[in-house]
Amino acid sequence: MGKETKKVLFTETVLRDANQSLIATRLPYSKFADILPTMDKAGYYSVECWGGAVFDVCLRYLDEDPWQRLRNLRKAMPNTKLQMLLRGQNLLGYKHYPDEIVKMFVEKSVDNGIDIIRIFDALNDVRNLETATKTAIKCGATVSGAISYTQSPVHTLEAFAKLAKQLEEMGVATICVKDMAGTMTPFEAYELIGAIKNEVKIPVVLHTHCTTGMAYMTYMKAIEAGVDVIDTATSCFSGGTSQPATETINIALKQLGYETGLNDDVLKQVNDYFKPIRDEYLKDGTLNPKMLTTDTDALTYKVPGGMLSNLVSQLKAQNAMDKFEQVLIETPKVRADLGYPPLVTPMSQMVGVQATNNVLAGERYKNISKEVKAYCRGEYGTPPAPINPDVMAKVLGDEKPIEGRYADTLEPVFEKTKAELGDTAKCDEDVLSYILFPQVAEKFFAARKAKEEKIVKYTIAPVEE
Ligand code: CO
Repeated sequence: MGKETKKVLFTETVLRDANQSLIATRLPYSKFADILPTMDKAGYYSVECWGGAVFDVCLRYLDEDPWQRLRNLRKAMPNTKLQMLLRGQNLLGYKHYPDEIVKMFVEKSVDNGIDIIRIFDALNDVRNLETATKTAIKCGATVSGAISYTQSPVHTLEAFAKLAKQLEEMGVATICVKDMAGTMTPFEAYELIGAIKNEVKIPVVLHTHCTTGMAYMTYMKAIEAGVDVIDTATSCFSGGTSQPATETINIALKQLGYETGLNDDVLKQVNDYFKPIRDEYLKDGTLNPKMLTTDTDALTYKVPGGMLSNLVSQLKAQNAMDKFEQVLIETPKVRADLGYPPLVTPMSQMVGVQATNNVLAGERYKNISKEVKAYCRGEYGTPPAPINPDVMAKVLGDEKPIEGRYADTLEPVFEKTKAELGDTAKCDEDVLSYILFPQVAEKFFAARKAKEEKIVKYTIAPVEE
């Protein structure tokens, strides 16, 4: 028997997850535009660059059209597979959208340049993945069917392997195990990747975070179990709540005889480029040094990095940082009450806000957010385990939870919204931006219009003189 080449491929996350986890997605396109042609030569399996919080933050804080960012990325990296993260039926927003919108959004993402769509559902309810997955496959995109990883009494190896099989049957090209909290241990990785590899024939991807310090060991054991692709970030944007360092793992693996496809010189250039940017964000406070440390609290509280930073800013805003510890203790209790949802968007926000409410009010479930109410009604899908009946009674009263898939109850909204927007929306992409983030998009459109008028005035002015 010939010696098989061992191969591990890399997805670079600096533009999306590292950016999101360390500096709340505040990288404007202009900051990284110049390095894209270099990144295009690195040999990554893919560059994760869109989706997640990128879309929202572009419109809300960066005065950037996210669709334009995507088209620019496509142009600047013609040889690289552009990857996005999509929250199934939630798309990039925080609620469920009708199938019509899910289809259109996926089609437009592919039209504008996306190659790989990693699709997940916070509750691992496959009914919430179907429309996006089928549409993306139809459009010729590569779908990575993602499993939201979490530990709980109901999240067993068998349950995860079964889910992987269901996704494979749905037609996805790869399975991604998404450990957003960075709490997967090396042992768990070895067992889980092995179990999934036994169940499916397609490649398996592992995504984790350094939050608890496990990630490098976790990747190593996952690789021993046969994982095909891992997510890493260029070293100056790695560690802490971000991913492990691309260059480090590349060198380690090559020495162990693995083929990575990566060009070491290019990787160094990429890191050299981002270093001063990282330093700038450290200096102006956008990058909190806390985000770069190892925090084993997450192993106890199972709280993802992004959620930790959200809790900090939430409590700071309310001048209640002294309650941080209490909120961290309350968080897993709320999670258990709600049937152990994985703590990923939007569940992480929902559980975090409810835990904060419970602590600040001094009484559990005195203030219940409308999101938790919707969750208990079943609008987000089926929870992994039944919701605590006491909480259910408190939240819903006499109301009955819905049956079936929530998205089936939603009416099409595209044409109606398009008509309402009139010429404020210049294209269908604008309409989709508005449907996902109405107030934010409205403000963005107004600013865009003002800018255009200014340009017109400016160009006319010299003629008048
Ligand atoms: Co992540």
